[in-house]
Amino acid sequence: MTKIKHIPVMLIETIRALDIKPDQWYVDATFGQGGHSREILNRGAKVVAFDYDQNNIEANQDTFALEIKAKSLILIRENFDQLERIISELDLSIAGILFDFGTTSEQLLSTDRGISFEGEDQELDMRLDDRLGVKARDLLAVLGEKQLQKILEVFGGEREAKKITRTIIKKRRAGEFITTVGQLVKLVRDTKTHRPSRIHPATKVFQALRIAVNDELSSIDRALPQAIKILKPGGKIITIAFHQGDDRIVKNYFKEWEKVNKGQQLTKKVIKPTAEEISNNPGARSSRMRIFEKNK
Ligand SMILES: C[S@@+](CC[C@H](N)C(=O)[O-])C[C@H]1O[C@@H](n2cnc3c(N)ncnc32)[C@H](O)[C@@H]1O
Repeated sequence: MTKIKHIPVMLIETIRALDIKPDQWYVDATFGQGGHSREILNRGAKVVAFDYDQNNIEANQDTFALEIKAKSLILIRENFDQLERIISELDLSIAGILFDFGTTSEQLLSTDRGISFEGEDQELDMRLDDRLGVKARDLLAVLGEKQLQKILEVFGGEREAKKITRTIIKKRRAGEFITTVGQLVKLVRDTKTHRPSRIHPATKVFQALRIAVNDELSSIDRALPQAIKILKPGGKIITIAFHQGDDRIVKNYFKEWEKVNKGQQLTKKVIKPTAEEISNNPGARSSRMRIFEKNK
């Protein structure tokens, strides 16, 4: 089922940072297509992997059939904010945890979820976890002007959030609802005056709505305190963030944990991908890695 290959970001750096020991259990909180999990497994360790996208779980059953059968990989369709409950049910001791936030290339480019700009007639859905109840089109239909503007500003960094939100609300009052990708792209194109040429004019609006629909920042905020709790002494948490919002939550937790003497940050300065990695995988450009080591 997997059509577009996702290239794992900062793979060498991640594996080096995790300092993998054979037969120990590691958590891959964001399985995706399993690029990072594969390398952990190749080093003789075991992995509990989470992904809330059922497509990723199904598409990788065959690719990882041997490891699943051998019980060296436990693949769980769940939000990583359920980390503590699930690890305690499995009764495992965890030597390291990886969070590679965001989406796979395949999810971003998929033409059946309303996340990508392709496919004008697609419904504005954007749910990566199809058990969630609210779609992007629902947010556009029910949120108040201030709330919507805040989402576009805070989650997308959209400079023209106010204008775009005004237009959405104006149309709504006239009984015209934005329900498809094409309608939203057109509205943003027609409304914006400043159009940076490097990216699609609707990139930030789409990103903001995807983050809101999937409750991405709150999930991170709920999961990190669980991660430090379930980690063995001396274990490491590795995070790879693509947006300031994700990275800021990590940065604040790491600082707070250091203050209360839970361990130490091993990345006073974030690790960025090398120029070579960026040239092979431009999607890695904005990624930032942080590492925290729990006290021994
Ligand atoms: C950047 S991709 C990870 C790619 C993966 N490291 C690889 O090499 O294939 C992020 C993945 O995490 C999943 N994800 C994001 N937030 C999640 C959450 N709160 N709970 C569970 N899975 C999540 C997404 O569905 C996506 O598949």
